Amino acid sequence: MKIGFLGAGEMGGAIIKGLIDFGGYRAGDILAGVHTEKSAQNLYSRYGIDASTDNAHVISKADVLIIAVKPAVVPEVLQQIAQELTSPKLVLSVALGSTTQMLEEALPGFPVVRVMPNTPIALGKGMSLLARGRYVTDEQMQTARDLFGCAGRVEELPENLFDAATAVSGSGPAFIYYVIAALAKGGMDLGLPEKTANLLAAQMTAGAASMALLSGQSPAALQKSVTTPGGCTAAGVAVLEETRADQIFEKVVQATVAKAQEFAK
Ligand SMILES: NC(=O)c1ccc[n+]([C@@H]2O[C@H](COP(=O)([O-])OP(=O)(O)OC[C@H]3O[C@@H](n4cnc5c(N)ncnc54)[C@H](OP(=O)(O)O)[C@@H]3O)[C@@H](O)[C@H]2O)c1
Repeated sequence: MKIGFLGAGEMGGAIIKGLIDFGGYRAGDILAGVHTEKSAQNLYSRYGIDASTDNAHVISKADVLIIAVKPAVVPEVLQQIAQELTSPKLVLSVALGSTTQMLEEALPGFPVVRVMPNTPIALGKGMSLLARGRYVTDEQMQTARDLFGCAGRVEELPENLFDAATAVSGSGPAFIYYVIAALAKGGMDLGLPEKTANLLAAQMTAGAASMALLSGQSPAALQKSVTTPGGCTAAGVAVLEETRADQIFEKVVQATVAKAQEFAK
């Protein structure tokens, strides 16, 4: 099966890497259409895929299309697909605000799937949310699940919850990088070398995330289990609670959702 990307920057590139490194896809199975020759050449030298500025070539050759351009470019790309194809193909869009309704309006009768992945898919640790369009068969939905599930986890989600979930997992890596940097800075302020501080904070985050995923315990229970009353961790947790750090993250999610909703208009 040939997979065609329309746009392959940060997100599209991460999916391509995930497909090749974890999904068993060969470079020859992947095509990408991008805006500039420079990006096409970079994609070719990095992955050996058929990359060009010729979207029509990608649209005609691929069995499945993945739209991974910025939201503002989506209408142009949808128009190209509608113009180039006489019979429908499975079209997935990872672009923010690409509702299945919007995709179906632009591509009448096409099987479309809205996807919200995140960049850790490049390392086989992605989290992708899927929303199914009206004309998608079970087999096509399985294809979508396989494409995004080969390099991470996949969840189907009602589309009215998509923006909230997008804030948590799609934009989430940026928030966690912020926390990693802030924690590392706290260590650096007390003398830890930058490289060591970043390593400690990042490896700790990976370990804690694995515990949250694999232990079967809630994050709150895990936190309690490592917080001895009166101990040093408890002193740190008290600052998080006094400053209502949880409310800061609520605001972070709400602001992200508000912006995501603007893109869907
Ligand atoms: N980044 C994330 O963490 C993330 C997470 C979830 C979803 N998304 C979604 O993924 C989409 C892409 O985001 P991104 O961060 O990957 O952006 P990006 O790095 O700017 O990549 C955009 C890509 O689109 C290409 N492009 C621009 N105009 C095009 C056209 N007319 N035809 C074909 N390709 C074209 C660009 O090519 P050139 O390089 O040649 O300009 C580039 O390859 C967005 O809609 C975003 O909402 C991103």
